[in-house]
Amino acid sequence: NPVQLVDRFGRQVTYVRLSVTDRCDLRCVYCMSEDMTFVPREQLLTLEEMARLGKAFVDMGVNKIRITGGEPLVRRNILKLFQDLGQLDGLRDLTVTTNGTQLARYAKDLQAAGVTRVNISLDTLNPDRFHALTRLGDINKVLAGIDAALEAGFQRVKLNAVILKHRNHDEVLDLVEFAHGRGMDITFIEEMPLGVIGDHDRAEAFYSSDEILRDLQQHLSLSAIEEQTGGPARYFRREDSAYRVGFISPHSHNFCDTCNRVRVTAEGRLLLCLGQEHSMDLRRVLRANPTDDARVRAALLESMAIKPQGHEFNLQAAQPMIFRHMSATGG
Ligand code: GTP
Ligand code: 5AD
Ligand code: SF4
Repeated sequence: NPVQLVDRFGRQVTYVRLSVTDRCDLRCVYCMSEDMTFVPREQLLTLEEMARLGKAFVDMGVNKIRITGGEPLVRRNILKLFQDLGQLDGLRDLTVTTNGTQLARYAKDLQAAGVTRVNISLDTLNPDRFHALTRLGDINKVLAGIDAALEAGFQRVKLNAVILKHRNHDEVLDLVEFAHGRGMDITFIEEMPLGVIGDHDRAEAFYSSDEILRDLQQHLSLSAIEEQTGGPARYFRREDSAYRVGFISPHSHNFCDTCNRVRVTAEGRLLLCLGQEHSMDLRRVLRANPTDDARVRAALLESMAIKPQGHEFNLQAAQPMIFRHMSATGG
């Protein structure tokens, strides 16, 4: 059996999030500022380098890869990466997190390439609010993308909603009904302070998972369940439905002690924690060892020594501790 990726705290890394671009066709107010500077294209890993990295991770016990961005489906020729990763023996789950705007075009091909599950971000059902929250989006494109994903035959399609007080907190029940009515799970996310966004005060906009759960319990009967997606969400099931409501609560219910993930930025920087800067330059390792995968695996193993215990997000701080925007790592 292969060498596995276990950190100083005994946590095994089995889940890798690969960001394939920091660009996006939307500008969600909690994710980006209005005037973003993007990474020059020549500094990105090639899709071949990403596939090589994916194989190295799978050779070390990783069984789930999630492709993220920015918006992953705006990267040119991205289908090739899904096709390459879809061939890897040992990969149980090939997943993608997307804003959904390109899914009408891509859903079928993604499913054929071996993508098992798709998470789609949708924070509101109201077109004007959607436009305001994304600074430029057309909700109809996303709704068409959701329909295409549902038709394509994935194992599971899930919605993600970041909830902000006074922007969309009054829609949580509608979002649950929308998701469950169409055969999708839904996860609510507490906003994390990454990067200066220049839109709202994150402390003032905070709406906790407990508040959302309380709001939902007024109308639905929800009970906690054990559910393993390998991600950070805690899940509840509705008594009258097969579908789930998840909560990702970095502030109110820290999940770092069971962290099983690392992420790689589009430039090939291995980030050992979303909320910390501990990192390793994998682009350099890949390019210095163009054919020697053992050297790549050795570097991954070495990185386990610097995986931090957890994030230290503080919504009250005047400046975010992490200046990198969420779009640079896709969560
Ligand atoms: P599933 O495979 O469906 O469980 O997906 P997931 O929740 O792992 O991934 P998704 O891309 O849907 O992420 C949803 C939210 O979880 C995003 O806001 C991510 O930033 C957040 N998230 C994922 N992993 C971590 C983590 O390790 N730490 C923190 N703080 N947030 C995370
Ligand atoms: N805090 C929490 N979630 C965020 N996302 C983007 N920015 C933030 C943030 N600052 C969400 C997106 C998407 C997922 C990858 O992360 O809405 O669903
Ligand atoms: Fe784009 Fe996703 Fe960030 Fe919104 S949250 S701007 S869709 S990367």
